[in-house]
Amino acid sequence: MHVRRDRAGTRARTPGQRDRGQRRGSRPERASRSTGCRAGVLGDAPTVDLVNPHLPTPLEMRRAMGSFASGVTVVTGCDDGEPVGFACQSFASVSLDPPLVLFCADHRGRSWPRIRTAGRFCVNVLAEQQTDLCDRFGSSRGAKFEGLPWQLSRWGSPVLPGVLARVHARVHEVHAAGDHDVVIGEVLELETPAQDRPMVFFRGAFGIDPELVLPEAWDWA
Ligand SMILES: Cc1cc2nc3c(=O)[nH]c(=O)nc-3n(C[C@H](O)[C@H](O)[C@H](O)COP(=O)(O)O)c2cc1C
Repeated sequence: MHVRRDRAGTRARTPGQRDRGQRRGSRPERASRSTGCRAGVLGDAPTVDLVNPHLPTPLEMRRAMGSFASGVTVVTGCDDGEPVGFACQSFASVSLDPPLVLFCADHRGRSWPRIRTAGRFCVNVLAEQQTDLCDRFGSSRGAKFEGLPWQLSRWGSPVLPGVLARVHARVHEVHAAGDHDVVIGEVLELETPAQDRPMVFFRGAFGIDPELVLPEAWDWA
């Protein structure tokens, strides 16, 4: 079978190929003049099958979403007396009252299921210079806490030194969404121990100036 590839070598769907989420044998969604969106000249187009040939691949998603610059955090927890944690950029504030935050955790991650079991976590917001921590916690290899001067918070989660902020939270809700879980946390306590510049992650690299430093931990494709 001929498989189209784009310039990056990723597999592209051919028109007529099943869309993700579309069951085998089911009919693709149809747009008709009576129900479809109409605008200008396209409104008079004939009825067409809406199998979407533009559906992005995971690599295309990752590349395009990488244009959205973000900070970087390390989400930590303690399960069975053992500290666990992973680098996480999908952190956001959700609600001020009640205080809620969220992060998205890959189903393939080893730390998240253990943090879920612990029921509590700490979001450590990294400072600009803490690229070593990002590399360490963004990798599935190595003993992440070995040689680190971490401490256990009063809430039972590991806290990292030198971070801009720590958000101590309890797992409130977990929503499965594709290959990730959206985790809503109820904030228990906030700390803002340092006033340094923040770590910024943009298009797969740290910082937004021309002299970009590529992270070593790039094994989360
Ligand atoms: C800058 C950066 C941001 C990341 N953001 C996320 C994220 O938001 N959610 C996630 O599940 N993994 C994210 N990762 C990937 C995990 O940190 C990585 O897969 C890690 O190896 C998981 O470790 P674990 O298997 O011990 O949980 C990120 C990695 C890096 C380097």
